[in-house]
Amino acid sequence: MDKRLLVTGGAGFIGSHLVRRLVQQYPDYKIYNLDLLTYAGNLENLSDIEHFGNYHFIRADITDFIKVAEVFNNFGITDVIHLAAESHVDRSISDPTAFMKTNILGTMNLLLAAREAWKSDYSAHRFYHISTDEVYGSLGPEGAFTEHTAYDPRSPYSASKAGSDHMVRAFFHTYGLPVIVSNCSNNYGPNQFPEKLIPLIINNILHQRELPVYGQGLNVRDWLWVKDHVSAIDLLFHQAKPGQTYNIGGRCEKTNIELVGMLCDLMDQKLNRTPGSSRQLIRYVKDRPGHDLRYAIDSGKIENELGWKPSIGLEEGLVATIDWYLSHQDWLKNVTSGSYMDYYKKHYSK
Ligand code: NAD
Ligand code: TYD
Repeated sequence: MDKRLLVTGGAGFIGSHLVRRLVQQYPDYKIYNLDLLTYAGNLENLSDIEHFGNYHFIRADITDFIKVAEVFNNFGITDVIHLAAESHVDRSISDPTAFMKTNILGTMNLLLAAREAWKSDYSAHRFYHISTDEVYGSLGPEGAFTEHTAYDPRSPYSASKAGSDHMVRAFFHTYGLPVIVSNCSNNYGPNQFPEKLIPLIINNILHQRELPVYGQGLNVRDWLWVKDHVSAIDLLFHQAKPGQTYNIGGRCEKTNIELVGMLCDLMDQKLNRTPGSSRQLIRYVKDRPGHDLRYAIDSGKIENELGWKPSIGLEEGLVATIDWYLSHQDWLKNVTSGSYMDYYKKHYSK
């Protein structure tokens, strides 16, 4: 079928992997990548596919309703996969309003534009909203988030994502818009902006800088290789029924200190450094306010209904991630120049 698929946030970390997959696997679809190119968006992430005939980039802000509606009209958008967001918890603590605007108002604008553009017949369309496990709040030592876990967001980031999830589901129940929602655990892999834990630690080990670990390093995250998230998105976009929610996770829990230790050891090997030397750089720093203790996803629904599972484990994924950053040091240098260093100094000198 001739789809004209709008991917928002396609110049970011997960979005760029998704756009590449869709452009390469679905030559009959036209992929429109709408992105504002904030500090987190980078067209370098897509330089290998920008010449493909079925790819088109649009620089736009999802908080601008008129522009969003124009994009639906001008390009005859048939489907949406919505990833554009402010995505970093620490930034949401210093500037919550930006998260409310982009994540809630931006999502609302896309929903309104889709409702208007598709109103004659919703049945052939899909509005797929990409969300996070952080909307479910913080777990104790036991259990995992299912699709039925009550929402309990605790950071401005997760509260804004929860707000957007609720609005997406409201458009399903109220207007019949054919929506899908998925809530995924922490992703890692190539092209992730080095404000997030894994690329930040890789970059700092490379430059033999201190490795900031919040609190006691005992918070737990459930890690998923980004290309496995993207394979799940592809599957759900094509197979999930409207109104459905799916959790996606790696079944791969690690404390932050375990993870940072693994990165240190793997990088000592790669860089031929004395074993144990990078671990000397670990520094326990002031904890994040409201730091969620543990996230863990029960991904039984997507595994049992659709046969999805992660293709690789954490160690293999970390080795591939480290290899990518080591062979793309120009990319790292470009994204860590200028405003990144201002952010870094301000955040880590608190
Ligand atoms: P990212 O920060 O790397 O990328 C976000 C992209 O959105 C950037 O390209 C940015 O330029 C764009 N953007 C931001 N504001 C915009 C606006 N107003 N208009 C248009 N574009 C705008 O984020 P990511 O890590 O790739 O996450 C993508 C999505 O997946 C987000 O919705 C996030 O909540 C969700 N998610 C992320 C993770 C994770 O571990 N990274 C896990 C689960 C869900
Ligand atoms: P992050 O990558 O920001 O993802 P999220 O907060 O969305 O889970 O952080 C992952 C974990 O690592 C989280 O528990 C906070 C912790 N962390 C540190 O210990 N030090 C750091 O410098 C950063 C950025 C994160």
